[in-house]
Amino acid sequence: MKLIRDIQEEIIRLKKEKDICILAHCYQSDDIMEVADFTGDSFGLAKKAAQSGHKNVIMCGVRFMAETVKILAPEKRVYLPRGEAGCPMAEQLDIDMLRQLKEMYEGYTVVCYINTTAELKTLCDVCVTSSSAVKIIRQIDNDKILFIPDCNLGDYVSKQIPEKQFKFIQGGCPTHARLTVNDVKNAKAAHPGALLLTHPECRPEVVAMSDFVGSTTEIMDFAANSPEKAFIIGTESSICSHLGMSHPDKLFFPITKDCVCHNMKVTNLVDVLHCVQGVDGEEIDLDSDTISKAKVCIDEMLRMGG
Ligand code: 13P
Ligand code: SF4
Repeated sequence: MKLIRDIQEEIIRLKKEKDICILAHCYQSDDIMEVADFTGDSFGLAKKAAQSGHKNVIMCGVRFMAETVKILAPEKRVYLPRGEAGCPMAEQLDIDMLRQLKEMYEGYTVVCYINTTAELKTLCDVCVTSSSAVKIIRQIDNDKILFIPDCNLGDYVSKQIPEKQFKFIQGGCPTHARLTVNDVKNAKAAHPGALLLTHPECRPEVVAMSDFVGSTTEIMDFAANSPEKAFIIGTESSICSHLGMSHPDKLFFPITKDCVCHNMKVTNLVDVLHCVQGVDGEEIDLDSDTISKAKVCIDEMLRMGG
């Protein structure tokens, strides 16, 4: 049997030989993160996509992330190691539903979470991520905001910007929305004194019980820099694993062991090897009209998000 480090060395050798940049979202496994050129949250990955000098990019994450790379750098060849790695939230709304919503809420600025398809982004004014949403929406020169599709993130953002009027739809992340107040109570009872760190995709009542709310990298940075030693983590379980490996002097407990995004977990290290070898993986193909229209809202995000 091949050792993990043999596979990793082969990936590293091939990515250099073939001018490939590997980007990995923080929900990927440790062995994939170790071979990546850049790891981060959705906003960090989007910024890197715009900057990378490589001809080819492999996105270890889900489809909307690979589409974002293609939109920002259409001259690059962009691959998903496993084509079926999608984000269910990104597909909760289709283009006709969004057209109807825009008619219903005429005069509203349409803000989409980056967890949307490229097609949906063609009809949106501004794109945001969990770490950039508050900063960006504050700068929008309109008090009326139609926020799609995650009503939990939308609720969190709207509470920071009470001066604006928000409209939401019933969308959201099935992985985070699964976490309940009872789960939090049980975790707090099992780990008294541990700080609760949650992602804003969680339900409002879970967010309200938290000591810190942030994106995946914001949660990891908070835990790294905090003088506290024990944390309950309210986001995808891989964040607990990464934090445990980086900070063995601290304790990290998932709210529940069921907070797993199976879509993010579809990709494993061997899939990444096959993708750099060119024997498997899906190349992202978007037509030029979709790219130019979807780019408008992503450019706005990068401009206002800094
Ligand atoms: P962030 O990486 O922006 O925290 O988003 C989490 C997520 O669910 C990505 O799909
Ligand atoms: Fe989508 Fe939720 Fe998985 Fe993120 S964690 S990719 S939002 S299903």
